[in-house]
Amino acid sequence: MSDKENLPAKEHREYIKPENLSTIKERAEELVSQMTEDSFYMKQNKLNYNSKIKDIYANPIGHDVLYKLLLQLNKSEKLIRNPIIKNLPLKTVVALTKKSLGKDFFDVLLELLNIESEHPYTLQKGIEPKWWKEVVFYQIYPRSFMDSNGDGIGDLKGIISKLDYLKELGVDAIWLSPIYDSPNDDNGYDIRDYYAIMGEFGTMEDFDRLLEEVHNRGMKLIMDLVVNHTSDEHPWFQEAIKNPGSKYKEYYLFQKSKDKNPPNNWTSFFSGPAWNYYKELDEWALHLFSKKQMDLNWDNENVRKDIQQMISWWLSKGVDGFRLDVINYISKREGLPWGNKTVGELMGYYGIENYYYGPNLHKYLKEIRSEAFEPFKAFSVGETPGVGMEMSKLLTADYRQELDMVFSFDHLETPGHVRFNDYEYDLNYLKEYFIHWMEDYGDACWMSLFYENHDNPRMISKVNKNPAYRKPLAKLLAMIQLTLKGTPFIFQGQEIGSVNKAFQSATDLRDVESINLYKELIEKSSAEDAFREVLSGSRDHARTPMQWSDKKNAGFTEGIPWIVTDEDYKQWNVEKQLENEDSVLNFYRQLIQFRKEHKALIYGSFEAVNKKRKDSFTYYRRGEKEEFYVECNLSSNTIKRNTLASGYELILSNYSEPAKDLRPYEANLYKV
Ligand code: NOJ
Repeated sequence: MSDKENLPAKEHREYIKPENLSTIKERAEELVSQMTEDSFYMKQNKLNYNSKIKDIYANPIGHDVLYKLLLQLNKSEKLIRNPIIKNLPLKTVVALTKKSLGKDFFDVLLELLNIESEHPYTLQKGIEPKWWKEVVFYQIYPRSFMDSNGDGIGDLKGIISKLDYLKELGVDAIWLSPIYDSPNDDNGYDIRDYYAIMGEFGTMEDFDRLLEEVHNRGMKLIMDLVVNHTSDEHPWFQEAIKNPGSKYKEYYLFQKSKDKNPPNNWTSFFSGPAWNYYKELDEWALHLFSKKQMDLNWDNENVRKDIQQMISWWLSKGVDGFRLDVINYISKREGLPWGNKTVGELMGYYGIENYYYGPNLHKYLKEIRSEAFEPFKAFSVGETPGVGMEMSKLLTADYRQELDMVFSFDHLETPGHVRFNDYEYDLNYLKEYFIHWMEDYGDACWMSLFYENHDNPRMISKVNKNPAYRKPLAKLLAMIQLTLKGTPFIFQGQEIGSVNKAFQSATDLRDVESINLYKELIEKSSAEDAFREVLSGSRDHARTPMQWSDKKNAGFTEGIPWIVTDEDYKQWNVEKQLENEDSVLNFYRQLIQFRKEHKALIYGSFEAVNKKRKDSFTYYRRGEKEEFYVECNLSSNTIKRNTLASGYELILSNYSEPAKDLRPYEANLYKV
């Protein structure tokens, strides 16, 4: 039975009035209860070498892997629907690709696919309203947001002083990057004490006040939950090293090695092997990230219990939820098998197939949800690198009770590129990605909408570095993000059209990933080339001080900032943009306000017009009573309009005068 055959009549899939929701929900629950367990989860048989391409595509992991592969090869999904291709048994594919891929690649693939025995059920039951579907989130990277005491480092009091600014912008919820006690090898993503605040950021009293002030303004606050790993300075790890007989040794992933090399070939995301050697134990411990971020052993029940307790502790303080750092990495395959060579070469990291969607992932997510999140009705958004749409459905569908949302990253680079490539991002790909998710993610799942965070260069710089287009492009990106279906997450500075920084030399770099990569690259290339490559993808672009004014250090600190900024703040800053009606900041404000007043932009249906037309992205958002039309030019050329929006009322545009054709990066919102 395919999803399509299961769809209710079209009228039932339209936007649903909140007052009818309970009836619809009851009906949906009734329908669900009539299904057998098998039809609900669509359990599937194990795949093997006789399985056909179509069977692999029907598997959620297989689907996402093949989908990505097609994108990389610039091929359409239609290829898989071709009767000859879809009926090819895997063994034939193995024979055909024997020279390039090798059978062990397919063994690994099959093992990975067989981890997932369930299939998402795309229930078109109407969208259930939730506060987190209606809000606009704003991510704060505390170190760079606002410094209150002149030590050059942003802090909690600094954040408190800017809450009115955020409220005015229209922000309803804040995601705080980590503020816990940390030696800062990875700026707080290496936690030493989950129950304490980082000294540089303030005290627990400051935090309590921050939470209160956020709530007083009717906003919500979510924290960062970093539990794939702890700092090597965390007492658990310290105890594990000092006292190998203690229970804490089992909290981490220690292994002996047969020789002088690490126990397997896994590599770290921050360069080099993913293992540290501990002489005192003659054992190695796993770290997927920096050498000071030690992976926890989630298969140990005590670890999970301690984490649940910690989550409950913060939630009982009144925190509204968490963003869960690399949460799809927590379950590693038993025995930590060697990474496949082909996968390693393709991905740039070895071992990833053994943990990016591990065997117990669903079990552990369900467990923390029921034990820690559910009693507080807390919200969760998981950071899930590498996870595509079908896997996201299994992680977020409301009937599965795992996560509420995920951050999937497939849209952050145009296929065929990685973050450290210097290339121009093609917005046509972004359009394709969004249309795919808008149309297929289903009512049981809800999407996060974002282009930026503390781990990525600025989107404007990725698309077009020409300063002439900075303003219209910034507004175009805002238009798309704030008129699609999903929850927008704005990263600090995005609302003033921030771009990448003109770092002068490698000594300006602060991020552990950039520094390690630079060291690795200068072994093979000139310092100049190495620096250029690092600059293309460095996370530091997003981490420079928030540009508040044209005063010293962009108004961020009275002291010496922990990371340099460039001259840009003299022209591009909050103060200036607050005064200028036509600024990017005011565009964000108006859009956010409008979105809040018109639920059709939140829960309304989505229909793309003339999808295939290059450089043009146009769509309707339809609610019960209202209908909106958005037209965007995704290029720096002038293009013809798709539909003449005659009779439509223009609500907002990034150009002040009307024109016959769509000008570079033009974006218009109409009421139909
Ligand atoms: C993802 C975070 O966003 C990133 O900043 C961090 O370095 C890694 N996870 C490791 O915690």
